[in-house]
Amino acid sequence: MSLTRIRHRALHGKVMSAAQAAGFIRDGMTVGMSGFTRAGDCKAVPEALAARAAHDPLHITLITGASLGHDTDRLLAEAGVLARRLPFQVDRSLRRKINAGEVMFIDQHLSETVEQLRSHHLAPIDVAVIEAVAITETGGIVPTTSVGNSAQFAQQARQVIVEINLSMPEALEGLHDIYVPQDRPARQPVPLTSPAQRIGQPFIAVDPSRIAAIVFTDKPDSPSNVLPPDDETRAIAGHINRFLMDEVHAGRMPATLHPLQAGIGTIANAVLQGFEDSDLQGLTMYSEVLQDSAIALLDSGKLAFASAASMTLSEPVYRRVIENLDFYRSRLVLRPQEISNLPEIVRRFGIIALNTALEFDIYGNVNSTHVNGTHMMNGIGGSGDFARNAHLSIFVSKSVARDGDISSVVPMVPHVDHTEHDVDVLVTEMGLADLRGLAPRERALRVIEHCAHPDYRADLKDYFQRACRRAGGQTPHLLDEAYSWHTRYARTQTMRRAPARAREAEVVLAG
Ligand code: COA
Repeated sequence: MSLTRIRHRALHGKVMSAAQAAGFIRDGMTVGMSGFTRAGDCKAVPEALAARAAHDPLHITLITGASLGHDTDRLLAEAGVLARRLPFQVDRSLRRKINAGEVMFIDQHLSETVEQLRSHHLAPIDVAVIEAVAITETGGIVPTTSVGNSAQFAQQARQVIVEINLSMPEALEGLHDIYVPQDRPARQPVPLTSPAQRIGQPFIAVDPSRIAAIVFTDKPDSPSNVLPPDDETRAIAGHINRFLMDEVHAGRMPATLHPLQAGIGTIANAVLQGFEDSDLQGLTMYSEVLQDSAIALLDSGKLAFASAASMTLSEPVYRRVIENLDFYRSRLVLRPQEISNLPEIVRRFGIIALNTALEFDIYGNVNSTHVNGTHMMNGIGGSGDFARNAHLSIFVSKSVARDGDISSVVPMVPHVDHTEHDVDVLVTEMGLADLRGLAPRERALRVIEHCAHPDYRADLKDYFQRACRRAGGQTPHLLDEAYSWHTRYARTQTMRRAPARAREAEVVLAG
């Protein structure tokens, strides 16, 4: 235990065990926990809560910044603690319970959760559990590797539990910029005019009398689990590099580009890594999460500055950052996610948004969340905050999934997260479809030619041509056939059309 981390001495008496602190959380409560894409999540209290639920069943609404590390979502889901969960998750066990209808999951734009809390659209936070590096002389909470929604949780909760993580160096203090917008409708513009600017305080201001418990832990963040780039993701990165260089040469963007946002996951990480091979220099990021590739770009000097709500890094990169904070401090800032993802700022900066789709359709509507239209994958995350307001909204995907049995380009997506109106450019390893200034019928041809896998291209073109002939309209579709690729997959585990004879058999069987 290191009481020196609690600089507001009157709070020394609030130190207790995680099990005792978890006792503040009672059945039916709404709990706000720190944590964003496995970074800066609480480690000790949720574990104690799951252990307690084995003999003292309880059900809570859990709100976080985004996904958690340390299998916390799995532990809480399997212990039956989670009645409701928002706004994002990536855990397989929790995903199963969500898709079985056992956990009510609210999939939200990540900038909106605290606005909804502030507006009383959601039940208020009873208890906030926030991971911290230290507590300041005034009782301010210094976050660790993410800020997420912690500021609003701590300021709104009736009681606050602080988990001080001794594995996080005190040198993290100063990395954060905590700005909390005023209440609406009298809110003033958020005064941020460049990614590197600081407009807030380096800690979360909170009334110390509401800090009910302080717990110590020494567990580091769970390392990121993204996979290294492969041939397809390298090809996707190459298409994007060439496209952005063309934008610069055409005079539509400066050589340093506009600030970049990159989504979560293996593909987004690989795409950003691809910037290492480009001639681009002096880039900036205004994103919600920084993965390994962003740190590599900072190291190589290609990236001049990065702003985000969290850092989700593999073990060696995490260590490099933690051990060289003096280098990164002048190049990084962590903000609340309502600021990192704020539509007002995304529009002001003219962000280049790079997000990943599960699938998209021939007209450019994107499904990022629902496998086969019904089953939740992770959630929309911040992709919508950025896509709708970006200078360039780019979505990437491999052209096929599951060994080629799923085409990521389909006639009509069975769930829409981003409508065609929010999508400028689509990219697969096959190529890049620049959809700016095109009408739906023009978009379809470009998407099929540039993005679809050759195994599915002819069928997509055939569908589009028949839709134009038989149905017509601004956005031609054959409504009785539009989802046939998905129903075929559900029936046969492949979107590939069966050879003619097998197809006849299918019809006989179905009949
Ligand atoms: N249908 C069904 N499954 C599909 C699919 C499709 N059309 N396309 C991909 N998948 C599966 C893959 O097979 C893989 O499954 P596995 O985990 O069982 O192997 C999984 O989806 C992940 O795909 P992968 O190719 O590894 O991509 P990724 O790690 O980059 O993740 C998303 C892709 C879309 C799941 C992820 O980016 C996401 O959740 N996005 C939405 C949130 C978001 O954009 N946040 C960023 C805002 S900053």
